[in-house]
Amino acid sequence: MKRVKTGIKGLDEITDGGFPEKRTVLLSGACGTGKTIFSMQYIFQGATKYSEPGIFVTLDERPDLIKEDMLRFGWDLQKLKEQDMVHMVDASLAKIGIPSEEEFSMPATGFDLDKLLLEILRVSKRIGAKRVAIDSLSSLGMNFENEFEARKAILKISYLLMRIGVTSIITSEIGHGSKRFGKYGVEEYVVDGVIVLNYMGLGAQSNRTLHIRKMRATKHSEQVHPMEITDSGITVKKVESLYEKT
Ligand SMILES: Nc1ncnc2c1ncn2[C@@H]1O[C@H](COP(=O)(O)OP(=O)(O)OP(=O)(O)O)[C@@H](O)[C@H]1O
Ligand SMILES: [Mg+2]
Repeated sequence: MKRVKTGIKGLDEITDGGFPEKRTVLLSGACGTGKTIFSMQYIFQGATKYSEPGIFVTLDERPDLIKEDMLRFGWDLQKLKEQDMVHMVDASLAKIGIPSEEEFSMPATGFDLDKLLLEILRVSKRIGAKRVAIDSLSSLGMNFENEFEARKAILKISYLLMRIGVTSIITSEIGHGSKRFGKYGVEEYVVDGVIVLNYMGLGAQSNRTLHIRKMRATKHSEQVHPMEITDSGITVKKVESLYEKT
């Protein structure tokens, strides 16, 4: 199976060369664990390092705020947008009935999964997308009556992404210390990979970790890896680095 390099430092080494091509990976973690930065880094690196156009779908945060935040890492999304390399799809405002200023967005008539998927398809056709990130799935929550509906929606999303032929990340928020990987307890079964981010602030030292729970068709590390967020984004470290003196 072909691999798609994430471009996230240290990650491709422990996943046998990257994500399985045209598959979907679930990135789960509590709030503040780095899900948004991780998924944007995947899209940004794809566009700048590997010339692969990408789509970032935002369901929670406003696109203008994300763009502003990401400049801190030196990731100029506006420039990539002008080059038709990265486009954002704004679904953050539609949910509360406010029209978006983004070129690609959902109408301000409430959340509608089919409309969102059509919008992703539209952008994808325009730029020939190879990568998609959807951040985050958890906020779809209010639209599902039960687990069955949630499962159906997630299956639908991953099916469409597969049909478009993109390699994607879907993020999902879970509580601290949760044993589940997704809010609905079904996400992990319908995706091809699960990566869990963790964060424990212990005294002066903050500990971030990354753990690959599953990655179909891949020989991957089963260990819990230390992870760092710095001004250049996310870096995944080897486990041995835990024991190195700093
Ligand atoms: N330049 C930076 N250097 C170090 N750490 C940073 C930097 N920028 C952000 N962070 C850390 O990253 C965290 C935010 O990451 P991110 O927004 O990706 O998390 P998230 O999992 O998406 O959270 P949420 O569930 O709230 O959306 C911040 O809480 C902060 O600790
Ligand atoms: Mg986030």
